[in-house]
Amino acid sequence: MLTLKGKTALVTGGGGGIGRGIAEELGKFEAQVVVAELKPERADAIGGALQAARVDHLVLQADVRKEDQVNDVMRQIDQRYGKLDILVNNVGTASPPKLFEFTTNEDWEFDYQINLRHMFVVTRAAIPLIRKTGRGGSIINFSSIEAFRGIPLMTAYGAFKAAVIGFTQSLALELGHEGIRVNAVAPETTESEAIQPSKWIRPEDSGAIGSAIPLGRFGTPADAAGCVVFLGSDLSAWVTGTTIHLDGGALAAAGWHRMANGVWTNAPVISKGALHLGRGTKK
Ligand SMILES: NC(=O)c1ccc[n+]([C@@H]2O[C@H](COP(=O)([O-])OP(=O)(O)OC[C@H]3O[C@@H](n4cnc5c(N)ncnc54)[C@H](O)[C@@H]3O)[C@@H](O)[C@H]2O)c1
Repeated sequence: MLTLKGKTALVTGGGGGIGRGIAEELGKFEAQVVVAELKPERADAIGGALQAARVDHLVLQADVRKEDQVNDVMRQIDQRYGKLDILVNNVGTASPPKLFEFTTNEDWEFDYQINLRHMFVVTRAAIPLIRKTGRGGSIINFSSIEAFRGIPLMTAYGAFKAAVIGFTQSLALELGHEGIRVNAVAPETTESEAIQPSKWIRPEDSGAIGSAIPLGRFGTPADAAGCVVFLGSDLSAWVTGTTIHLDGGALAAAGWHRMANGVWTNAPVISKGALHLGRGTKK
C-alpha cells in the first residue's frame, strides 16, 4: 500500500480549488499536511475538513508573496515537524484577460508576483527545511498547459507559467545530488475556485468537450492530487526536472479537432460542414 506516513507536506493555496484537493488527498495517504492559505475563511474550511478526517495538520493563514509571512510559515513547520518532505507550490492565477497591447505594468507585476516570484520566495525558504529530512524531498511547481502553447489575452500569465518550467529544470540540477527532486505539473482547464467549466457548458453539450480534450472531460482537483501523490512519493524516486502534462491529452491533440461524427481533423472546421479536406482519421 502506498503511504506518505511520516512525510510532511506544505501546500500553498491549499484552502481552495486544486490546492484543497491536494491537501485532502495527501491527508488520505497519511502525510502531515501543512496549508498556507491567503483567505481566512478558506483556511478555516480546510482546517475543519482535515480535522474531521483526523489528518495531522497545520493550517496557516499567510500570503505567500510576502517574505516575512513565508519565513513565519517555515518557522512554524520547523517547530511542529522539524523538517519538510514535500513542497507544493500551487498558488497561481491570471490578471483580467486583455490584449497584450493594453496590459499595464501593474498587470505584469501582478502576474509575476502570483505565478513566479512567490515560488522563488517559498522555495528558497523551504530548501533548508527539506534538507533537514536527511533523505531528500520533492518540490512540485504548478505551471499550466499554457506554458506549452499560446494563450491569447493572458500573454504575461503564459510567459510566467513557461518560466515556472525553466525554474523547475534548473533547480532540479542544483538539488539532484541531495536527493531533492523538482518537478512541475501543467494542468489544462480544471474545476476550481477560479475556473468553473461546469458552469460554462450545459450538460447536454458536454460531448463537445471531447472535440479538444481526447479524454472527453475537464480536470478535477483529484486529478491534480493524483499527480502530486505520485511526485511526492518514492514511486517517482527517479523523476526530476520534468513536467506532467495533466491535460486529458489536450496537448497531444494540439491543432486537431474531433468533429461531431468522431473524425479527427487538423483542417479548419466551419459550422455547417463547409470544409471537408479528408485529413481526418476515423475514430
Ligand atoms: N484551474 C485551472 O483550470 C488551472 C489550469 C492551469 C493551471 N492552473 C494552476 O493551478 C494552480 C491552482 O489553480 P486553481 O484554479 O486551483 O486556483 P484557485 O484560485 O481556485 O485557488 C487558489 C487558492 O490559493 C489561494 N491563494 C491565492 N493567492 C494566495 C497567496 N498569495 N497566498 C496564499 N494563498 C493564496 C486562494 O485563496 C485559493 O484558495 C495555479 O497555479 C493555477 O495557475 C489551474
